[in-house]
Amino acid sequence: MRTICAPKLLWLALLCAASSLRASEYEYSWKDIVYTYGKGPQCVPIPEDLQLCYSVGYSQMILPNLLGHDTLQEVKQQASSWVPLVHKHCHADTQVFLCSLFAPVCLARPVYPCRKMCESVRDSCAPIMEAFGFPWPEMLNCSKFPVDELCIATNMTDKPESSDYTPLCPVCDRGMTHILDQICVSEFAIKTRIKEVQKEGRDRKVMLEKRRRQVRLGNLKKEKMKKLVLYLKNGVDCLCQPLEHLDTSYLIVGRKVEKRYLLTGIHKWDKSSKEFKKALKKLESKNCHDTFLK
Ligand SMILES: *[C@@H]1O[C@H](CO)[C@@H](O)[C@H](O)[C@H]1NC(C)=O
Ligand SMILES: *[C@@H]1O[C@H](CO)[C@@H](O)[C@H](O)[C@H]1NC(C)=O
Repeated sequence: MRTICAPKLLWLALLCAASSLRASEYEYSWKDIVYTYGKGPQCVPIPEDLQLCYSVGYSQMILPNLLGHDTLQEVKQQASSWVPLVHKHCHADTQVFLCSLFAPVCLARPVYPCRKMCESVRDSCAPIMEAFGFPWPEMLNCSKFPVDELCIATNMTDKPESSDYTPLCPVCDRGMTHILDQICVSEFAIKTRIKEVQKEGRDRKVMLEKRRRQVRLGNLKKEKMKKLVLYLKNGVDCLCQPLEHLDTSYLIVGRKVEKRYLLTGIHKWDKSSKEFKKALKKLESKNCHDTFLK
């Protein structure tokens, strides 16, 4: 397999590619994905507000990208939904993998991520997305990516980022960045306390106290809110501290997936915290629907 290394460090990716590519090897023969350049490819600097990829380690990207986005505006809009996943630290290569598609390193030919890298990231991150009720999307179907062609990989592809990833439930991280991310995957938000938590298969069922205050209902009908029962998907074994403290008020966010309501975020109700108030404000204005996927 011919591999381009894409270390986190600056344009090493490019150097690395340049040194492993000779003219004769340059022929791009992988035909499964038709890559058509509309106006011809352009190399553009990765803009600072392309948050997903600005820090990826190289400074120029190719446009259109490998997902068919023609403009930076489109790239930015689509890429923003994936920033929360990178924050989850589910795999050391999440950013490199996503950016190899959203902001491909600027070479004369498109180079896709290796299938193995895709599978490795998918295996680590899909369960986390699933906890929020998002399937691994078809646009990242790993069988689209090359096995024995030139492709992007890192030397970390085989090593999930397990050392600093504790078995916290993905939806129960406590940092503020996370609650902001979580707000963006949610449809409704309420203030309430937890009454009881039960195991149900691989999930946990979260019953709430009767007293509930709506923060934002979104599509949730008031009647439904009164009867709301939430599920922590695949959460039977993970650690979720808030669910152990039944005497505290929480900001609870969730979304409907199929016929159930998933708990997608929980945070102590703390009006004395500036960040908390900021999060509430964002929740009210909410212009960040549908993260991970579009
Ligand atoms: C991925 O794509 C392959 C081939 O195109 C297809 O057979 C497979 O069902 C897809 N996998 C998923 C999970 O959609
Ligand atoms: C692999 O990655 C580590 C950590 O990023 C780096 O220190 C090391 O030099 C890399 N090894 C090779 C062979 O590229």
